This record gives sequence, structure tokens and C-alpha cells, in this order.
Amino acid sequence: SPPQRLLFSSFLFFNDFIHTGMQHQIIWPCQPYCVPLDEKLLPQLMKEAGYATHMVGKWHLGMYMKDCLPTRRGFDTYLGYLTGGEDYFTHFRCYQSRSLNLSRCALDLRDGEDVATGYEGVYSTELLSQRAISIIERHNSQKPLFMYVALQAVHAPLQVPERYVTPYSFITDTNRRLYAGMVSAMDEAVGNITLALQKEGLWNNTVLVFSTDNGGQTLSGGSNWPLRGRKWSLWEGGVRGVGFVASPLLKQPGTVNRELIHISDWLPTLVGLAGGNTTGTKPLDGFDVWNAISKGFASPRLELLHNIDPLYYDIAPCKFTFLFSTLTLLEIFFSLTLAQVANSGFNVSIHAAIRSSKWKLLTGYPGCDVWFPRPDGNTSDSSSSEVDQLKPVMLFNIEKDPEERNEVSAQFPKVVEHLLCRLEHHQKSAQPINFPDDDPRCDPGPTGAWGPWA
Ligand SMILES: *[C@@H]1O[C@H](CO)[C@@H](O)[C@H](O)[C@H]1NC(C)=O
Ligand SMILES: *[C@@H]1O[C@H](CO)[C@@H](O)[C@H](O)[C@H]1NC(C)=O
Ligand SMILES: *[C@@H]1O[C@H](CO)[C@@H](O)[C@H](O)[C@H]1NC(C)=O
Ligand SMILES: *[C@@H]1O[C@H](CO)[C@@H](O)[C@H](O)[C@H]1NC(C)=O
Repeated sequence: SPPQRLLFSSFLFFNDFIHTGMQHQIIWPCQPYCVPLDEKLLPQLMKEAGYATHMVGKWHLGMYMKDCLPTRRGFDTYLGYLTGGEDYFTHFRCYQSRSLNLSRCALDLRDGEDVATGYEGVYSTELLSQRAISIIERHNSQKPLFMYVALQAVHAPLQVPERYVTPYSFITDTNRRLYAGMVSAMDEAVGNITLALQKEGLWNNTVLVFSTDNGGQTLSGGSNWPLRGRKWSLWEGGVRGVGFVASPLLKQPGTVNRELIHISDWLPTLVGLAGGNTTGTKPLDGFDVWNAISKGFASPRLELLHNIDPLYYDIAPCKFTFLFSTLTLLEIFFSLTLAQVANSGFNVSIHAAIRSSKWKLLTGYPGCDVWFPRPDGNTSDSSSSEVDQLKPVMLFNIEKDPEERNEVSAQFPKVVEHLLCRLEHHQKSAQPINFPDDDPRCDPGPTGAWGPWA
């Protein structure tokens, strides 16, 4: 029988951002767009491969019209929220639109396509994992199962029932203490779901993927120490994710994998495992990395495009880069050598980063560049006060220097040239950015819920 599968993550992937027009920021609650409807998503392909498909948790792939909703994009059932974040207990999302002069807090919770009421006060991590468990209990084990559990944890706002925080009273930093409690609740949820799979006799044929979708947000309890930067930046602290795969089907369990794997690789990997078919999709950026995960083979992926976003600006500038005024940044960009400009058609003032085997090239302003110290650690841990000179083109050897402390573009001009060409090549295939203005029809009113309006 085909394997039963489970995917835990916080994003459902299909293709590189640049090939969907979604390379800029995120979908804000009033923006009328979603992942292009001609992109076939992973659940659609799993459904075509004969799987029952269920989703629990954060969608955030767009919801301005019904055709964008999870139940119209491949999931048989859905319980969760459509925007990017909200209150863990009330399930209310507050949003202020400056362009619309709108300030609105409204419910964002749906069961299928219907607004889900009656869950006020139920902690998100418990609500979502409970639903995952009841899906497993009701599942007909003759049919293969694909379930995507995008838990709200661990994401701002920092909220958790007191019982999860009690063991962490020794942590003095309040954000870190709450964060630790939230991680414990999430850990318990994953344990509960795993137990349900075992009780139902499904575990021996399950692949469980657990993954983050980005680096930690230091403004709300996250820590990437000793890596540089944070979420919303192209530094390793923003783009390097951790994850694990647990399964009786792994050929080499218990191994640490340091191969290049990108979130877009899950689609071909899981569809491949399911015996499905990706011929009906748009050209895929991802690779089937199952042999790298299961057998320790080299990853077929040699290059990884982090992003190219010509509209980028830092939405939450980090305290140390306040020193970098716009003027300073302009000066940096003007200091690039003419040779660099002449050799490349790529505009190096654009926020972009690409990885090729051990090398990582960054252009433009990569976002908050601080090495945030380990919370509660002693200050000698940190070199966060070093404000080094950012350059428009920076090269790091990530294998030797994952902390991105030694910028080596001057020593390896050939590598720089090659990677600038690769960026130019990728930029040529990019879709234009889609980032529409807020639509006043998004307003759910004082008693409504966030959801499709168009
Ligand atoms: C914005 O809305 C507030 C409250 O609804 C109102 O008092 C204010 O006049 C509005 N401002 C503009 C510029 O429309
Ligand atoms: C896990 O299961 C236990 C036992 O049913 C329950 O008390 C606990 O609340 C569950 N945890 C989560 C996070 O759902
Ligand atoms: C899983 O366990 C069931 C019940 O014990 C058994 O019939 C089945 O062959 C097992 N599957 C695998 C892949 O080991
Ligand atoms: C995959 O799907 C395409 C149509 O989308 C079909 O032509 C092809 O035969 C399928 N391949 C397999 C191996 O099922």
C-alpha cells in the first residue's frame, strides 16, 4: 500500500517566489491577491495520486476570493486561519490599513469555508492538534493520507497557557520565557499527533516532516544566535531553517543532513513518494530530494535562490542599522566599482541572495544585519556592536563561515561574476511583482470575519 504521509510546516510550497510574483513581503489582510490559480499546489497533486488531503492551521496563501481558499486548492477539509497571524485564544486578527484608513479586529477562523465560531478561549496549538488527531482517528486506513499541519506556534503574538510556562520560571527574559512555553505546547502537540498515528496503526507507513519556514524573529522571542540577521532578512539567521524527517521508511535514520534543500523541494519529493505525477504543473523549481533525506545521497540541488526583491525595504529596521541612513546606503551603492557594474547586467542595488554549493552572494541591502546575542547569555557571546561596512555585493563561504563574518568578494572575483550572472539569469525568468493596493471591500465590519470578499 502507498505510504501514509504527514507534513508539518508553516508554508505550503510550489515554486520559488520569483516565479509566482510573490517575491515581495507577504499577503496583507486587505490585499486582493493569492498564489496564482494556475499554480497546482501540493495537495492537488496528492489528491490526484489518490490521497485523502487535510489541512489544519495557517493558510496565508491568499483568500480575497473563494477560489483561493484551501478547500478549492486541493484540500478535502480545512480548519484554520487565513491571514498571517492572530490572537492564539480569541482567533481575532487586528489589521490597520493606512491607505484605507481602516483599523479592524475581526475573527479569522474557518472550518472548511465557513466561519468557525465557538472556539473562543481555546488555545490555538491545542485546537489545531485536536483537529489533526480527530482526522487521524476517523481516517479510513485503506486510503493514503496527506495532512498538512501548519501550527500557529511559534509566531507572534507570544501567548501560552500558564501551565506550559511554569517549568521555565528560571528564564529571566519575558519573551524568551513565553517562547519556551509555546515551544513546549507545540512539542506536546506533535507528540500527541504522533501517538494518534501509532494508535491507529498508521505509523509504520508514515513519513513525518517537521520544518520551520524561516529564521527566528528576534523582536518576538526568536533567536538565531550565532547566525547573523533574522526573519525578513537574507542573512542565514533569516533564511536557514531547521527541520527533521521521522519515518520507519528512512533508510538511514538518525543521520544529520547538511545538503542543500529548499522548501520548494517538498512538492516533487512528496509527490514522488506518493507515486504521483508532476507533469501537469508549471515548470518546477524544486528537486526530488528523497534520496538525500532517506539514504544520505548528495542533494541534486546545487544552487538555491533565496530571493530577488527589487521593492524590498526593512519593515522593522533593526536598532543597529538605524545608523545606516538612506544616505549612507546610497553612498555604499555608489562605492561599487565600475567593473562590477560593467561585467553584470544585474543591478546590484537590488535586494537579492543566491547560494551555490558553499558560496552565498548577497546584493543590495539584505535586511537587518546584526548578530543578535544569545538571549540570557553573557555579553561576551556577542559581537553585536560591530557595525561592519555593508557592501552592495557580498560573498561568504557559508560552509566555513555560516555566521557571515568574513566577506570575501575581493578574493574571489570569478565566483562573484558567476553568481551575478546567475542572479541575472533568474531575474530574467521572474514574474512581475504582484503587490496590489488594499481593497476597501476587505473590511469584515464590526461583527464579521476576515475572508473572501471578491
Ligand atoms: C479615519 O478614520 C477615523 C475614524 O474612523 C476618522 O475620525 C478620520 O477622520 C479618518 N481620517 C481620514 C483621513 O479619512
Ligand atoms: C496532548 O494530549 C494530552 C492528553 O490528551 C492533553 O492533555 C494535552 O492538552 C494535549 N496537548 C496539546 C498541545 O494538544
Ligand atoms: C504496518 O503494520 C500493518 C499491521 O501490523 C501491516 O499489515 C503492514 O504490512 C505494515 N506495513 C509496513 C510498511 O511495514
Ligand atoms: C502524468 O500526467 C499526464 C497528464 O497530466 C499524463 O499524460 C501522464 O501519462 C501521467 N504520467 C504517469 C506516469 O501517470
